[in-house]
Amino acid sequence: MAVGKRVGNDMILSIESSCDDSSISITEIKTKKLIYHKKISQELEHSKYGGVVPELASRLHAVALPAILEECTQWFGELKAVAVTNAPGLAVTLIEGVVMAKALSITLNIPLLPINHLKGHIYSLFIEKEVQFPLTVLLVSGGHTQVIEVVSHEMMNTVATTMDDSYGESFDKVSKMMGLGYPGGPLIEKLALGGDSSRFTFTVPLWQSPLIAFSYSGLKNQVRLAVEANEAEDYPDIAASFQKTATDHLIQKLKKYFKTSKPERFAIVGGASANLYLRSEIEKLLAPHKAPLFLAPLEFCSDNAAMIGRAAIEEFVRDNFTNYNEIVVNPRCKL
Ligand code: KG4
Ligand code: ZN
Repeated sequence: MAVGKRVGNDMILSIESSCDDSSISITEIKTKKLIYHKKISQELEHSKYGGVVPELASRLHAVALPAILEECTQWFGELKAVAVTNAPGLAVTLIEGVVMAKALSITLNIPLLPINHLKGHIYSLFIEKEVQFPLTVLLVSGGHTQVIEVVSHEMMNTVATTMDDSYGESFDKVSKMMGLGYPGGPLIEKLALGGDSSRFTFTVPLWQSPLIAFSYSGLKNQVRLAVEANEAEDYPDIAASFQKTATDHLIQKLKKYFKTSKPERFAIVGGASANLYLRSEIEKLLAPHKAPLFLAPLEFCSDNAAMIGRAAIEEFVRDNFTNYNEIVVNPRCKL
């Protein structure tokens, strides 16, 4: 997809392959404008397994990334750096992007910018507009559930995280239990629209705990018991009750957090930020604080290289380069 006009200026090429999306973008350095962006998702290929199969994902990246890169050769002469997601994510898929980035760095003689995927999600907010700091960010994806205080481009502090599964992952697992496919988030959200969220009472995780942290493994097991004890016609009610409880958990912990740290501005990022029920509950939560809510455009909520490119601009202007023989893949790295 051609996103913007070619302007003949300095560019960064960015690569994302941390999970099941192969994506490359071209971003203009001076204007921070997205010039080109393409993503090939592997959802169909993984759907029959009910989740991402890392080795299959890796093989699919090895085909998709070079195919996308072919479309970018027209900008090779204008590239001033190559950026790549090197952490966190699946080791066998991260390496596909990193190897391509290294090869480009060597052959085009341009520096490398390693980008943290979580930081990338935060920058999905900045692809089409600027957002002021300080900014409280709720990151909800398939791999992470975190609250991050973004003080500046250099200072981002994680103040709450999950102890086990993530918010998006819990939707994927519930979808798998119901035999619905992958990714589960949109499927469960759709199913929940026709369901009664008050029919099944699931315990809100950690509701009595003073911890400001998240946990979804216990809720997942409660839902499993309900799925096993009921029929397919009950699944919409289970889906709606699950979605409500999973979201109530986020809201309850954020409420607790806001008692000591009032939000000035708030944002939701990551694949699960597309969830409309979550968005409306967060809006209600923010209303008394009069804090505006920021969201990335829908196409940039899930994994993409446009957000990596926008994050890369901030690293480029700060000279945060890495030598091609020093870049490492770090699957478990934090923000
Ligand atoms: O950010 P993302 O594309 O990949 C990771 O970095 O993990 O997020 C993917 C996750 C999946 O778990 C998917 O089920 C979830 O986001 N997701 C949703 C929705 N759309 C995607 N979860 C809940 N509701 C949705 N509408
Ligand atoms: Zn992601």
